[in-house]
Amino acid sequence: MNIQWDAEKYTSDFSFVAQYGNDVAALIDAPAGSSVLDLGCGSGALTNTLQAKGYCVIGMDGSQEQLEIARQNYPDIPFLQGDATDFTLKEPVDVVFSNAVFHWIDREKQPAMLQCVYNALQDNGQFVFEMGGYQNNRIIHTALADVFQKHGYPYTIPFYFPSIGEYAALLEQAGFLVQYALLFDRPTPLKGEDGLKDWIKMFLKTPFSVVPEQERETIMDEAVEQMRPVLYRTDKWFADYVRLRMKAVKL
Ligand code: BEZ
Repeated sequence: MNIQWDAEKYTSDFSFVAQYGNDVAALIDAPAGSSVLDLGCGSGALTNTLQAKGYCVIGMDGSQEQLEIARQNYPDIPFLQGDATDFTLKEPVDVVFSNAVFHWIDREKQPAMLQCVYNALQDNGQFVFEMGGYQNNRIIHTALADVFQKHGYPYTIPFYFPSIGEYAALLEQAGFLVQYALLFDRPTPLKGEDGLKDWIKMFLKTPFSVVPEQERETIMDEAVEQMRPVLYRTDKWFADYVRLRMKAVKL
């Protein structure tokens, strides 16, 4: 994963990530009692939602910090530490679910991750997920790249945001049959007058690592002002999210 989580701030200020996940969970078509792995469960909010729907859930995440919060919040749910690109389960599950995780995994590691998911599923098991899709946060990254360039720094996007065609091909190569795919814009309201700057601070630590610390605030402020006419509406910042939502079955 290309991030070091600030787990507490993530849970308090970016809880929309889990709230939107409810729509993804609705794509699961399995009877109560089915086993579901929540891959990249973070602080466990959606794992808990899945349990409330009657599923027999397991959460898995790479971050110890996130797992500590998850275990505190939901002591009756089993949470395992695991790397999404290199894990096995003792028993295969009926469903693998994931929300807002896979774009953190580099393109080169996606086939290994999909193979792990495939191996973790029963035959005919369902794989239901959502991630950042093609051109996710294009306005944000374009503005930052522009301001970085003016200050003499290179800007790299540390995410993988595939199109439907590209990701469907990876799923088929891993042995899945794609049953559902949707790429859609989801402008996402951010919290507070500094919502966009806070979002950049939370999620874009990697591109800023090439900028000397004393220059970071200036670059953020310039980029934020450049985006104000497009991403600040009425009294709120919006992030220009694009989602890729898919469902596939293990053949
Ligand atoms: C996303 O959920 O699409 C996302 C979140 C944080 C940074 C980049 C993408």
